[in-house]
Amino acid sequence: MNTAPGSMNTAPRPLLDRFGRVHTDLRVSLTDRCNLRCTYCMPAEGLDWLPRAQTLDDDEVVRLVRIAVGRLGIASVRLTGGEPLLRRGLPDLVGRIAALGPEVSLTTNGIGLARTAVALRAAGLERVNVSLDTLRPERFARITRRDRIEDVFAGLAAARAAGLGPVKVNAVPVRGVNEDEIPELAAFAVEHGYRMRFIESMPLDAQGAWDRSAMVTAAEVLERLGERFDLVPVGRRGNAPAEEWRVAGTDAVIGVIASVTRPFCGGCDRVRLTADGQLRNCLFATEESDLRALLRGGADDDRIEAAWRASVAGKGPGHAVNSADFVRPDRPMSAIGG
Ligand code: 5AD
Ligand code: SF4
Repeated sequence: MNTAPGSMNTAPRPLLDRFGRVHTDLRVSLTDRCNLRCTYCMPAEGLDWLPRAQTLDDDEVVRLVRIAVGRLGIASVRLTGGEPLLRRGLPDLVGRIAALGPEVSLTTNGIGLARTAVALRAAGLERVNVSLDTLRPERFARITRRDRIEDVFAGLAAARAAGLGPVKVNAVPVRGVNEDEIPELAAFAVEHGYRMRFIESMPLDAQGAWDRSAMVTAAEVLERLGERFDLVPVGRRGNAPAEEWRVAGTDAVIGVIASVTRPFCGGCDRVRLTADGQLRNCLFATEESDLRALLRGGADDDRIEAAWRASVAGKGPGHAVNSADFVRPDRPMSAIGG
């Protein structure tokens, strides 16, 4: 009988940190590349993308997810980027990951989703989050530096039609850029059956240009929403980053992710894997654990499991965005995964 830790016959030992937080959610970045250039994320010229040889291939990603699910108790896997739809053969990879058992979801900018939604759903993808910061074509082109808003609308509709719901729409409100559209974005989502979520902008842009005064706080988002909607809080949020409100008299739910003004680190259940195989125990971590080196150095599953547990054991209590000694992580958001 096999009683080794991580044996498929035994329930995985939870992935615990020093503060008793159990980690069940894995974010996997599949590429750091993107076909948009959102101003709050990266410069117009893009970034120095990871060389392909440094990026994990499908077999490597699948092996790490197998260890995460089979030995570490990871129950949900979110695929991110950069833009994950740029990853070649994505439906196939989604199918291989879904076959390992976790719930699989995807965060995308929606470009190309219209073409792939049905195949992704068939492969086992359950849900998508689509980024959309404005409903106005010229403004979209200004924010993302690409004239592609119609692709995003088409992607959203295709995702809903393919059963990838509830489709969430993520917007990052920025002062003087799109904060006047907060009620309209919410109304758009309510009308189409999407779940709107507003995300406070975080100091994770590649340029280091983040400025607290340009961040629209959750309190301001709620105030603006309150001018248009009657909002009723939706119970406890558990480990979910979004605090949610129901639009009175409807099924529509609107969420606010207040990473900066109301951090939710105490309930964090997430670990992150970058496209080049570095494990991060926090979005804001300044250290990483090199799983790619282990994979390519011939490490067995026990060794990789141990490195993974050690990384989570070293996780701090929370980010220090609000403190004077905050240190920005070396990687921007697009190279970490949202
Ligand atoms: N702060 C907050 N959200 C960001 N996103 C990208 N960069 C930032 C940032 N600096 C958002 C994207 C996407 C999600 C993954 O994160 O718009 O919706
Ligand atoms: Fe691309 Fe997302 Fe960054 Fe926009 S925010 S440039 S869609 S990675």
